Amino acid sequence: MNFDDHLFFCAPSRLIIREGARHDLAPLLAKLGYRSGILVTDSYFAEQTAWVKEYVRAAQECGIATYVYSGGEPDPSTTLCDQATQHILAQLQEVTPDHVIALGGGSNMDLAKALTVTLRSKKPVAHYKDGIGNDEPLPFIAMPTTSGTASEVTPGAILIDPDNATKIALMDNRLRPFIALVDPQFTYTCPPRVTADAGIDAMIHGIESYVTMDSNGFERGNNPDPGYSGRTHLSKMFARESIRLCAQHLRQAYRNGTDTQARIGMSYASVFAGLSYGSAGLNAVHGIAYSIAGLTHETHGRTNAVILPYVLYELRETRAQELNDIAGICGIATEQPETILQLVQELQTLVGELGIPNNLKDFGISEADLPRLYSDAMSVTRLRHAFPVPDTADAYRRIIANAWDGTFSDTPALSLVQDSPLEYTSE
Ligand SMILES: NC(=O)c1ccc[n+]([C@@H]2O[C@H](COP(=O)([O-])OP(=O)(O)OC[C@H]3O[C@@H](n4cnc5c(N)ncnc54)[C@H](O)[C@@H]3O)[C@@H](O)[C@H]2O)c1
Repeated sequence: MNFDDHLFFCAPSRLIIREGARHDLAPLLAKLGYRSGILVTDSYFAEQTAWVKEYVRAAQECGIATYVYSGGEPDPSTTLCDQATQHILAQLQEVTPDHVIALGGGSNMDLAKALTVTLRSKKPVAHYKDGIGNDEPLPFIAMPTTSGTASEVTPGAILIDPDNATKIALMDNRLRPFIALVDPQFTYTCPPRVTADAGIDAMIHGIESYVTMDSNGFERGNNPDPGYSGRTHLSKMFARESIRLCAQHLRQAYRNGTDTQARIGMSYASVFAGLSYGSAGLNAVHGIAYSIAGLTHETHGRTNAVILPYVLYELRETRAQELNDIAGICGIATEQPETILQLVQELQTLVGELGIPNNLKDFGISEADLPRLYSDAMSVTRLRHAFPVPDTADAYRRIIANAWDGTFSDTPALSLVQDSPLEYTSE
């Protein structure tokens, strides 16, 4: 028990997890009085699976009309969101939707989350990059088809801003779905690449939120309704269980996608990781990964995975107990002088086994890119400030130098990572 926790927990009002749970949605929405919805998905689900047609028919039988938008794309941009807003509003004409449903991975869920605001306000999504203010979103239901992002329980929607080649985050607790419906059967069609990239993202959410800043020291900026606010006894309970489930099921789900036990295990792992990081927040893994993504345009899961072992190595003193806990969960002998090194090496191996390069050189990053990578990572201040070390500037230098070489050195070549002239001002 942490007696000095400042616990602030915000989750979906309804969380449903079971094989075949998708069949429960139409009757549930009808019982709650909803009559007119938008289902946001992509062409794969609309054309290659029966799920969309099945749902629309079932909803109709329950007296709910549904317009399907199937223009979702991986890593949606603000441009796509604005086009989707215009397109859907033109199709609906006089009809006012009373809910938005997402079917898909993190990309479709984030697009749909943003649309809950723009369809009602009719404003461009960039208007909301500093908050949604008084523009109340439409009620939102999320049905994930990957086990990874847990956007179905989080307050954020991430969109690419093509004008600045950066990502913008819409962040508000009102953007959390009021129903998170997790049907593991949706994930059975996930190809191995998507399974691995999403699955390692789930494991990282569990691990990173387990070692993040404590709630009692978290800088909330006087926000009475914070999206993320540091780790607590509760978030750590979810984190531990999500890490255990990932350690047990991730490799198998990747190697054999027909193993339904592994798929179901990863569905739970992803949600539990989301219930941890969705309140505790994240730090340096995601902070540095955003910059790696800016340079390489690799997927969210891969850019996180490549940097994870090196970030954890940097925490070997300030989070020694937690890293021992994680080692124990992963089946490594704990409290030994070599435990933490073994853990980070084991994670490095796991990343490689999932077909993801486990150092920055192999990821296509050149030595000349390192100063830029460092400065961009430092500029993500929200995540940097939650990294529990005395000096984040030095820590980020060591992490990037080690990750470039693929080593765990106490004295990496810091000369590789000098400041570029950028200032650390953006979010
Ligand atoms: N809002 C949040 O809290 C949050 C957190 C983490 C990541 N994200 C965002 O999520 C996105 C990544 O999401 P993702 O990893 O779930 O992948 P994704 O949604 O980008 O999907 C990747 C590809 O896999 C396909 N796919 C998804 N599920 C499938 C299935 N069951 N069968 C067959 N194909 C399937 C999709 O059609 C797509 O082509 C990134 O844009 C990232 O920024 C958001």
